[in-house]
Amino acid sequence: MTFSDFLGALKDNPYFGAGFGLVGVGTALALARKGTQIGMIFFRRNYMITLEVPSRDKSYHWLLSWITKHARHTQHLSVETSYLQHESGRVHTQFDFHPSPGNHIIWYKRKWIRIERTREKQMVDLHTGTPWESVTFTALGRDREIFFNILQEARELALKQEEGRTVMYTAMGAEWRPFGFPRRRRPLSSVVLDQGVAEKIVDDVKEFIGHPKWYTDRGIPYRRGYLLYGPPGCGKSSFITALAGELGYSICLMSLSDRSMSDDRLNHLLSVAPQQSIILLEDVDAAFVSRELLPTESPLAYQGMGRLTFSGLLNALDGVASSEARIVFMTTNFIDRLDPALIRPGRVDVKQYVGHCTHWQLTQMFQRFYPSEPTGEGERFSKCALEEHAQLSAAQVQGHFMLHKLDPIGSIENVSKIRE
Ligand SMILES: Nc1ncnc2c1ncn2[C@@H]1O[C@H](COP(=O)(O)OP(=O)(O)O)[C@@H](O)[C@H]1O
Ligand SMILES: [Mg+2]
Repeated sequence: MTFSDFLGALKDNPYFGAGFGLVGVGTALALARKGTQIGMIFFRRNYMITLEVPSRDKSYHWLLSWITKHARHTQHLSVETSYLQHESGRVHTQFDFHPSPGNHIIWYKRKWIRIERTREKQMVDLHTGTPWESVTFTALGRDREIFFNILQEARELALKQEEGRTVMYTAMGAEWRPFGFPRRRRPLSSVVLDQGVAEKIVDDVKEFIGHPKWYTDRGIPYRRGYLLYGPPGCGKSSFITALAGELGYSICLMSLSDRSMSDDRLNHLLSVAPQQSIILLEDVDAAFVSRELLPTESPLAYQGMGRLTFSGLLNALDGVASSEARIVFMTTNFIDRLDPALIRPGRVDVKQYVGHCTHWQLTQMFQRFYPSEPTGEGERFSKCALEEHAQLSAAQVQGHFMLHKLDPIGSIENVSKIRE
């Protein structure tokens, strides 16, 4: 059979004819569709500009807040609840409203802008375990300036919220997320430690931050560890918060007893901590019981699901090598429960006892709380308090003052009731 015979046979075939017809309509449709597509592409290329911001990008959260501010009339909101459980069992929750996934139209600088927030159902960001998201801004025109403006504004908005405030980060998956709104900075003077203690630590940290070259010249990792130990309620955590405020640093709060913490995750988190931040490990004794106290090799805390090992923690602490000053603060109520390996020099460079109130502290606290009282009154309060009580924590004293807010005399007279 020749080729033309073959074609002839095909033509006679009714299916082929029908098929040909279908193909014809199909082609026309496809062409039309193609045409529209090309037209749309052309239109988009030339008359629309878009900006896509994936959730991984730093500006993503700034932009969400910016959108919330601008898309005031949107009725479709989603909530982002942050939840933080402190080692003490105290729970903090915070609700943030954001525009929900979908389309939002806003009027900005005499332009309509369509904002589409998309959330992939199938894709999860492996780092954070949260759905993969992005926001896309679309505007008519060719002027990219508008997006720069938006990004700029979003950043300024975010920074304004942080100005004079301390940002608290918590670990979420493999990254650090700001927890709640930045708090007003706590002034250092509001935490009264024993004479000279606060100054000593502040000077040490400032000296450390100020001399990166000293470390690099000697090939010493640029980090410094601090341990504050002593009974609860004496100001360890408060002091660290105030110190961060003083330095203009943020705080990365890390929970070692977090069940999902593993060696790798800890290592990664320490290496990606935000710049200018203090890593805070609260109540380290709770997560790591001294190895000597335990019959088995593996301390209690990680007999459960946690895959964080003690050596993993040590390695992570040692491995924190960065050109940024890395400051690690640990607190504990029981220093004797800590493994010596954890607090040896190099891991913990400065150990500071923060204990019950001394005469000096009590006097200072009284004067701070009742500034218009004559100085002698502070001394009198302090003397009475120490006669009545052998050990007083600053938290107890503060609570007592709160009961006698406007009554300094009563505060001295009722000094025996402090503990009640
Ligand atoms: N030295 C201090 N000066 C002023 N306030 C203090 C001091 N110590 C504790 N407080 C108050 O007591 C409360 C608990 O203190 P905190 O810093 O959490 O103690 P710690 O971390 O040592 O257990 C805080 O509200 C804080 O304001
Ligand atoms: Mg504390």
